[in-house]
Amino acid sequence: MDINNSVALVTGANRGLGHAFAKRLLERGARKVYATARRPETVDLPGVEVLPLDIADAASVRAAAEAASDVSLLVNNAGIQTGTDLVTGSLAAVRHELETNVLGHLGMIREFAPTLARNGGGAIVNVLSAMSWFGVRGANAYHLTKAAAWAMTNGVRLELAEQGTLVTAVHLGLADTDMSAGWPVDKIAPSDLADAALDGVEAGSAEVLADQWSRDVKSRLPLKPEEFNATMERALAALTAV
Ligand SMILES: NC(=O)c1ccc[n+]([C@@H]2O[C@H](COP(=O)([O-])OP(=O)(O)OC[C@H]3O[C@@H](n4cnc5c(N)ncnc54)[C@H](OP(=O)(O)O)[C@@H]3O)[C@@H](O)[C@H]2O)c1
Repeated sequence: MDINNSVALVTGANRGLGHAFAKRLLERGARKVYATARRPETVDLPGVEVLPLDIADAASVRAAAEAASDVSLLVNNAGIQTGTDLVTGSLAAVRHELETNVLGHLGMIREFAPTLARNGGGAIVNVLSAMSWFGVRGANAYHLTKAAAWAMTNGVRLELAEQGTLVTAVHLGLADTDMSAGWPVDKIAPSDLADAALDGVEAGSAEVLADQWSRDVKSRLPLKPEEFNATMERALAALTAV
């Protein structure tokens, strides 16, 4: 799929990675970019079409799908990380993360799949995380949602193959946005992450491992759980010691 001439819709485009996606899509020649946000007045990108969209609100998702019937590339980016553990943390927060990071993304795909089919198949980018594959104390709800979103992405890819929709999973360690502000370590620049994802779409890739951290974590998956956890503990300690 060519980014040039595509009609893209980005969720959470008012800041962070979503803002970078919308900007790079315009710069790479997308014909139209719907920059969507819960608070549309916070989108500050000249040249985009601004739409209100709360991905956790089914009526809002439906209204966006009705308003943007020409979309050929859906960038499912919006997400939250509430810093919640699974056993002792607030169950309402766990649900809120699931409603946003998993069911919010899935709701977008369900509403936009017919649009993508009508527009030639198109592509979906799901912004996931290296935390699809590992947990950390203090953010295990997020790990749960990204693991579930990875499985959702894999399932949706199978279901949309017939209509010719490319489904690209994008994994990353840390990007320099508000979400990772508490981690004073090396992070990928949001525009580089957007470019890696869009290059993946143009190459027809099912998966983009956007940084060394995500490549390293995925390569450890064959390890036994105890070895995997010990290796991750060492890697996280080395990361924060720098
Ligand atoms: N930054 C990282 O290190 C990192 C690493 C791995 C994966 N990711 C993933 O990358 C994606 C983008 O994260 P980010 O770093 O850009 O985070 P961010 O700077 O915190 O921005 C999150 C964006 O998502 C939007 N959002 C949250 N809930 C929403 C909802 N219900 N409906 C619509 N928009 C909603 C926010 O809108 P408001 O302004 O209204 O809150 C904001 O635009 C997320 O899926 C995240 O899990 C990030």
